[in-house]
Amino acid sequence: MDAAREFYTNKNILAPMVRVCTMPTRLQATEYGADIVYSEEILDYSLMRSKRVENHAFGTVEFVNTKENSSGFRDVIFQTIPEERGRLVLQLGTGDATRALKCALLAAKDISAVDINMGCPLKFSTSSGAGSALLKKPEQVRDIMTTLRRNLPSEVHVTCKIRLLETTEKTIELARVIEACGVSAFGVHARYVSQRPRQPAHWDLMKHVVESVSCPVIANGDVFKHEDFERIKSETGAASAMCGRAALWNLSVFREEGLLPARENLNNILKKCLEWNHTVKNTKYLLRELLIKSTGLENEEGNALNKSKTLEEIARTFEVPETLIGSKRREHLKRPCEEDALSL
Ligand code: FNR
Repeated sequence: MDAAREFYTNKNILAPMVRVCTMPTRLQATEYGADIVYSEEILDYSLMRSKRVENHAFGTVEFVNTKENSSGFRDVIFQTIPEERGRLVLQLGTGDATRALKCALLAAKDISAVDINMGCPLKFSTSSGAGSALLKKPEQVRDIMTTLRRNLPSEVHVTCKIRLLETTEKTIELARVIEACGVSAFGVHARYVSQRPRQPAHWDLMKHVVESVSCPVIANGDVFKHEDFERIKSETGAASAMCGRAALWNLSVFREEGLLPARENLNNILKKCLEWNHTVKNTKYLLRELLIKSTGLENEEGNALNKSKTLEEIARTFEVPETLIGSKRREHLKRPCEEDALSL
């Protein structure tokens, strides 16, 4: 089996999700059993503007905005640790080959693969020729994917994630264009661009796409339970399976041993946020999403979370030891170095 086929065969994959697939989620998903984890979609313009910084105090690699935000801080656009490298996919939002390549080269030594989002139906994405706008532009797809494949080190896989086109014939046509670019695999979210998430995914149609190409296909859409990872593969013939919303609702869907209670899952994710000194903003977002799905936000805990301004306050609300905050800091530097100043 070649390296690409091996990498993308029989893998349970965390789908890219904006604001969800930040480092704490990816690390916890891996602990639960995810084999490959996608980043949230990162827009090419933001990543291009960033500088790669090795934060020796935490052992992290951070892509830090070179410009300060309105509060005078430099935002971390993407963050990872070396231990993630063997399973991390950086997803880019882009409609342009040159920009895509710049971003991919910047992060090449920190990732296993770069994936291009060709499924996002939202206007902010399609208006710049990115996301699902690419589904109608095979020439542009060819340009982006061949540019990446030709210029990236061979150990970095190149993939994309598409949706279904209006007819199966059109989807197959695009699938063949993508395969001919030399991709290692591609993902298919088995919904039409016009479909809402609550409408069922079309596993039956994905089967035809899988049969039309010889590269591995990653099946995505309505993996709700752990057993569905196997079921979607066997019903579609796809090499691997990807899970989105069910992982957002309870990440332990990746556990072979079964789902954990909602509170235990929330605490595990919160611990990851605290250990890695994650941003308060994204920590709150992740916890809010989990509360919405379990106890709701209209209660004491929800109110306290909404009001909290620090990780300490959040830790106290959920009765998780505050001592976890920053505990992954490998060594305390005697004086702040440039990396610290930039990223903390
Ligand atoms: C998404 N999805 C998505 N897709 C993508 O390619 N890049 C992204 O950044 C995002 N962001 C995102 C955020 C959130 C909150 C959700 C719920 C979804 C789509 C996602 O990856 C997946 O294709 C769909 O959710 C379908 O899979 P499920 O949910 O049926 O398993």
